[in-house]
Amino acid sequence: MVGIYLSGTGNTKYCIEKLVSLIHSSAKAIPMESPEAISAIQQNEEIYIGYPTQFSNAPYMVRDFIKKNADIWKNKKILCIATMGAFSGDGAGCTTRMLKRYGATILGGIHIHMPDSVCDSKLLKKTMDENRCIIAQADRKIEEVALQIINGNYPQEGITLVSHIIGLLGQRLWFYKKTKGYSNKLKINNNCIGCGKCVSICPMKNLILRNKKVVSNDRCTMCYRCISLCPQKAITLLGNEVVEQYRIEDYR
Ligand SMILES: Cc1cc2nc3c(=O)[nH]c(=O)nc-3n(C[C@H](O)[C@H](O)[C@H](O)COP(=O)(O)O)c2cc1C
Ligand code: SF4
Ligand code: SF4
Repeated sequence: MVGIYLSGTGNTKYCIEKLVSLIHSSAKAIPMESPEAISAIQQNEEIYIGYPTQFSNAPYMVRDFIKKNADIWKNKKILCIATMGAFSGDGAGCTTRMLKRYGATILGGIHIHMPDSVCDSKLLKKTMDENRCIIAQADRKIEEVALQIINGNYPQEGITLVSHIIGLLGQRLWFYKKTKGYSNKLKINNNCIGCGKCVSICPMKNLILRNKKVVSNDRCTMCYRCISLCPQKAITLLGNEVVEQYRIEDYR
């Protein structure tokens, strides 16, 4: 078994690493952008795929990865894990439907509520104590789910027809444009000191340094990793000002 994930601010990494290690102490979770990801999928029968929900959809990078590697999913047994800041009708279902088309068997889906990662919006912002409670609840859920899975019962969250309709009508139909492709909307303000931190951490290699300033290309998957880590708070995407940089490391 192997975990494969995309994680911007660390929530999904945290959840999937915890889940796979509780089920098999030697199981690993590998970032989707890692060169090892494809071979890990080829070598394992059971794959747990994790990602943050974006507008009740999977991030475009995740859908693109699944599509581009369409031939590796046949006969794989897959569990999809969608982390989310508030609500997701069928965050897990968005990828299970694709994977099924490519010949995978779907074991189940899990939705895990975690702190919100959108650093440049006041909406859904919580205090550190509230975030600690959310993470503690997530910890308990992961422990319970791991036990269920060890006993052969896979959760079916987000993969039913009802969830599909809720996800579609609740958000995806209205926000579909936001996750239609990669984004070219990243903004870098004059505070940028050219430290290069964002360049090295972007999973899409979307950022480059030019004349000691960062420039964004048009391949942003909206993961918020650079926005949450820029020491100058110089990067924004959906909003125009960094309200609060969220990253799970601050809670561990
Ligand atoms: C662009 C974007 C859109 C998001 N949309 C949703 C959403 O529709 N519903 C939700 O519950 N959380 C939403 N979130 C919050 C994240 O899914 C959540 O915080 C997730 O756990 C972040 O995981 P990560 O730290 O692994 O990136 C969104 C986050 C981003 C960056
Ligand atoms: S991390 Fe921030 S300050 Fe450093 S190069 Fe990137 S945008 Fe500029
Ligand atoms: S540019 Fe920033 S938000 Fe976009 S994919 Fe890269 S790290 Fe994520």
